[in-house]
Amino acid sequence: MSPRTPAALKRWATVLAAVAACEARTFTVFNACPFTIWCVRPLMFTDLTAGTAVPDFPTGWEAAPLSSVTFTAPDNWTAGRIWGRRDCNFSITTGPTCLTGWCNGGLLCDPHTGTGVPPATVAEWTLQGDGNRDFYDVSLVDGFDLPMAITNNVGCSTASCPVDLGPICPSQIQGPFDSTGFPVGCKSACFANLDGDPTNSPNCCSGSFDTAATCPSSGVEFYSFFKGNCPDAYGYAFDESSGTALWTCDSGLNADYTLTFCPYVDVFPRTFIFLTRPSGRPTGRRPRPWRHR
Ligand SMILES: *[C@@H]1O[C@H](CO)[C@@H](O)[C@H](O)[C@H]1NC(C)=O
Ligand SMILES: *[C@@H]1O[C@H](CO)[C@@H](O)[C@H](O)[C@H]1NC(C)=O
Repeated sequence: MSPRTPAALKRWATVLAAVAACEARTFTVFNACPFTIWCVRPLMFTDLTAGTAVPDFPTGWEAAPLSSVTFTAPDNWTAGRIWGRRDCNFSITTGPTCLTGWCNGGLLCDPHTGTGVPPATVAEWTLQGDGNRDFYDVSLVDGFDLPMAITNNVGCSTASCPVDLGPICPSQIQGPFDSTGFPVGCKSACFANLDGDPTNSPNCCSGSFDTAATCPSSGVEFYSFFKGNCPDAYGYAFDESSGTALWTCDSGLNADYTLTFCPYVDVFPRTFIFLTRPSGRPTGRRPRPWRHR
């Protein structure tokens, strides 16, 4: 997405799994939104050490309302990311092809220059990471464009930002807007360039603010808006210390994961039940926070 990929991703990418069992995991991506979105699963990552174990599935696809796709991924899929684009028009040959999350290359992002453009809510996975654990999260580090939730079939925690932040987004960071004036996204303070210097910014955790110690959440404008509305998502680049940003699941459980866009209460009661009472999840259990090193 951007150079401000959570540093955690890079760390995971260098963590080699102990012994790779030759298992594959099933990923399901369900569009519960009442409108079409265009999904992206990038082929290339910011950290090329992430390896070449990638799902055998197109890197971009059109997701009609209520449609889902299923693919398998290697059980050591590393630094995997999926996000959704809104209001795309792939007849456009130069410039933005979508209002949010667009990339060079059209439906399939260009493997070399096709990183996405914020704002976009991003789902992230590293399977078989440190301690033989799967790591996953819903990231608002690059802003927000669609509500989403990551659930699984083995009782591990749900990562989510289930609220549509566009309409309630503060005006300084609200947008882009569609042709009717509806806000389809909400920018991070970094992307909105509120402090005027993205190369040395407490909002971007860049320059002299590029560590967890020098970039506390208290210095990030609108952190509490994002984290308050979506407590189980990454509110900013070093949000691990919140204990509810980066989630883990024992890799030995071989979890299959479902990414649901627009997991709304009123539209999909079954999704709501699953989100609030995942089967087998011990009451109140939270994974230990990820520690910086
Ligand atoms: C994933 O596992 C495959 C098969 O064991 C192996 O060839 C590949 O190097 C592994 N990739 C990573 C990133 O660990
Ligand atoms: C898509 O973009 C093309 C090229 O700019 C334009 O002619 C067409 O009207 C657009 N379609 C929609 C539905 O906006």
